[in-house]
Formats: sequence, C-alpha cells, structure tokens
Amino acid sequence: MKRFLLLPLLLPALSAQDKPDFSKMKADQIFDQLCSSCHGKDLSAGVGGSLVDGEWKHGSSDDELMKSIKEGNAQLGMTPFKTVLDDRQIRSLVIFIREKEKQAKERGVEFPKPEPGKVTKTQHEDYKIEMVVEDGLKNPWAIAFLPDGRKLVTEKAGRLRIIEADGKLNPEPVKGIPTIIDHGQGGLMEVATHPDYEKNGWIYLGFADGKREGREVKTITAYVRGKLKDGQWSDQEWIWKADPKFYGGAGVHFGTRIVFDKGYIYFPVGERGGWHDAQDVENAKGKIYRLHDDGRVPEDNPKFEGKTPVPGLWSYGHRNPQGLDMDPRDGSLWDTEHGPRGGDELNLILPGHNYGWPVITYGMNYDGTPITGKTAEEGMDQPVTYWQPSIAACGLSFYRGDKFPKWKNDLFAGALAQQEIRRLRLVDHKVVEQEVVLKNIGRVRDVTDAPDGFIYVILNGPDRVIRLVPSE
Ligand code: HEC
Repeated sequence: MKRFLLLPLLLPALSAQDKPDFSKMKADQIFDQLCSSCHGKDLSAGVGGSLVDGEWKHGSSDDELMKSIKEGNAQLGMTPFKTVLDDRQIRSLVIFIREKEKQAKERGVEFPKPEPGKVTKTQHEDYKIEMVVEDGLKNPWAIAFLPDGRKLVTEKAGRLRIIEADGKLNPEPVKGIPTIIDHGQGGLMEVATHPDYEKNGWIYLGFADGKREGREVKTITAYVRGKLKDGQWSDQEWIWKADPKFYGGAGVHFGTRIVFDKGYIYFPVGERGGWHDAQDVENAKGKIYRLHDDGRVPEDNPKFEGKTPVPGLWSYGHRNPQGLDMDPRDGSLWDTEHGPRGGDELNLILPGHNYGWPVITYGMNYDGTPITGKTAEEGMDQPVTYWQPSIAACGLSFYRGDKFPKWKNDLFAGALAQQEIRRLRLVDHKVVEQEVVLKNIGRVRDVTDAPDGFIYVILNGPDRVIRLVPSE
C-alpha cells in the first residue's frame, strides 16, 4: 500500500511539457533519469527492488522485462512507461539491465587464471595449457595444420608464418602471398587446408583485398587458394572476389572463416559497416557463401524470385561472422557473429535464410542508444542463443578429437572482449549446456580442434598460440 502512493506522485512529472527528449539519450542516462529513484543508481536497491539479483518476480525473459517496463504495475507502484518511452528505448534499457545483472553476478567470482602446467577443472574434463608459441607473433588470427606436423599461422598485418614440426616458429614469413591490406579490423585473417590436402596441397586464405592510395582505402574480404613450395606461395587461384563496387573504406566487420564439406567451401563476408547491405541479396556484404571448393558457383544454391543474388550466396542478414564450423554429427552449419552491444549470436545457418541484421537484433549501439525495439520478425531466423552482455564472439569449433572424450562433439566458442572460451553442448540444435572453460589469459581470436586431438587457441594480447591438453 505504501508503494501505491508513489504512482500519482511520479506521473504528473513525466507528462509535463518540458519532458526530456529520450530519443537522444543513452540507456544509462534514461535509467538514471526515470528508474534510479526507485531501483537505485546501481540497480540494486530501492522501493522497486533490485534488478541485478537474478530474481525476477514478473518473469525473467527479455519479453517479460519489456512488459514490466511498458505496462508497469499499478498495485505495486511500478510506473508504466509505454507512453514515455518507445520500444527501442525500452529494449535498450533491458540490455543495460542485463549487463548490470551479469556484472553483479560475476563480482567477486574469480575464474582461476590457467597457467602452464596447472590443472584447470571444468564440468566434464580437466585440462592443462601448453605454450605452442610464446614469442615472435604479432596479431595472430588463425591456425591450420599440415600432415607433416607443421602449422600455418596468419598475422593480421599480412604475414603467413610457419611453425616447424619441431615447434620452432620460422622467422621468415611465406613469400609471395597475395597483397593484403591491413586496414582497421581487416588484414590477413583465415588460413585453412583442404580436407584432401595430402593429395592436392591446397591451402586457402581469407583476407582484406583492395587498394590503398594515399589516405584512401577500399577493401572487402576475399578468398584465394594456393600451394606451399619451398617456403613460397605458388599456383594461386582466386576463389571469391567481390565486384569492385562493393569495396569500401570502412575499417570494420570483415567476417572471415572457412569451412569445407563434401567438395564445397563455406565462408562469410561481413557487412563492412553497411548495415542494410546485409538485407540486400544483390549486395556482397553481410552474407555467408557456398561455392564448389575450386570457386565455381553451385547450381543448387538458393534462388530469390525477381532478384539476382550475388554469386554463391547461401544465407544473408549477417553482421560480422567470425566463427564458422560444421557439426560432425549431422553436417549442420553454425556461425557466431559479433552483434552490436548485447547482440552477439550463435546461428544455425540454413540455405536462403535471413538472419535479420539490422532489422532485428538483441543488441543496441555501443554508446547505449537504441537500434531497434524488434528482436523478432516473420521470415527472419532467431539466433539459437545470444550473449548479453556481448562476449565479442570469435573462433568456433566443434570438438572431433579423442583426447577429451567427454567433450566429443561439443562446440567451443572463443571471445575477444570477455577473453574466454565457452563450451556449448548442442542437442537437437538447442544449447543444453554452456560453460566457460578458459578465461583471463588474453583475447581469444581463434579456437580449433586439431588433428592431434588437442584444442588450439590463438590469443591476442599477449600474442600467443596455446593448446589445451588433458590433465593426465
Ligand atoms: C515509482 C517507482 C518506480 C520507478 C520510477 C520504476 N520502477 Fe520498476 N518497479 C517498481 C516496483 C515497486 C516494482 C515491483 C517490485 C516487486 O514486484 O516487488 C518494479 C518492478 C520492475 C521490474 C520487474 C522486476 C521483477 O522482479 O520482475 C522491472 C524490470 C522494472 N521495474 C524496471 C524499471 C525500469 C527500467 C524503470 C525505469 C524506466 C523503472 N522500473 C522505474 C518501482 C519503480
């Protein structure tokens, strides 16, 4: 009853003519002005109660939180905000609350920092980390394994490096690789060997292709294949290259990973900061592609009535996919992509499907202003899971090896910002378990299972290659 009295006190203030312009405000500012009086500046106390203790009386889903904020609760004294705030602003408040909820939950909880030799215990398997390359790499991005025990590592600035079979990093980069533009988030990114490498010797690269002339830069992600002969790159063939009109100056969202399956190659091209380009099937950006592994366009790729999709298009509505792998159990294709703040996604990739960016997203702009109030729309696929706050998802790999039998077929997702690797167990295309298995030893750029059965991890800051090995 005491709470009930608060309602009439607050409403006149909001309907006053000089009400602030919320459309220009960031989520934390809106919260400060409209919510902190009842829920506390740090969201943890007040007549409205805590919003960060993980207990939700009126429903814990994002939709239920939106409803609580929109409709209020007259009996309990929660103001309805639907006439004050629009869906976009309410959505940004939900993301903001989720971020604070996670921070509160993790306060004081330390994930033990894995150190070489020390055993880290996780739900199903215990592991130790081993240093593969401690020094000598700058901004490593991806790793591939050759049957003779050598490993290839890309460096973003445009160098392809060899870790020799004895474990030593060859000081000389591979000569003769294509011209690579080191531009913002792009540069030399992916390296992958063909599944029949032993027979055909093909190595594939994904990188920022383009031109730099003075201060003008025009780039987009491109893919080639070539062979390694006496430390030289040779026999190069283009696999995928965009029409020149799609090259652009933005330094963001290149995407880039490679997956092979049954004579096909799958790879993404990020939306390069051109948000709505992701929705246009005739535009090269914000897409996942499928080609024959020699670059030919398959006849049975998705068709779009009245439109000429960009050659090779497999799925669209993507923002910045930097994780891609195929489930060894059923051949289903999965990506992780960086969303905006609060909108990182794990998606099941199906031919011709639209993954919604930027029409739907669970995220908001990095500065806390809203993007959209919509998280779902007819004809657009939902993520199988999403991360709020964002983890900055990068690198994705199913575990096919036999060194960690209890992790068999689990999915490992790396994260840059959260500096972690998450293990996800998928059953019937749903996430039934999710666990952080490694944290706090650097930004995770790539995680991949290897032919030796260990899990290799590329770290940025410090720039290293490590691997997870069983504790025994
Ligand atoms: C006048 C005081 C007041 C203001 C202002 C207020 N709230 Fe509340 N809020 C409450 C009360 C009281 C409840 C109900 C608490 C309960 O059930 O015990 C509540 C409940 C909620 C809930 C549901 C909590 C649950 O456990 O399910 C959410 C979410 C919420 N508020 C968010 C907000 C946001 C966001 C704002 C600002 C836009 C806001 N509130 C402003 C008083 C307020």
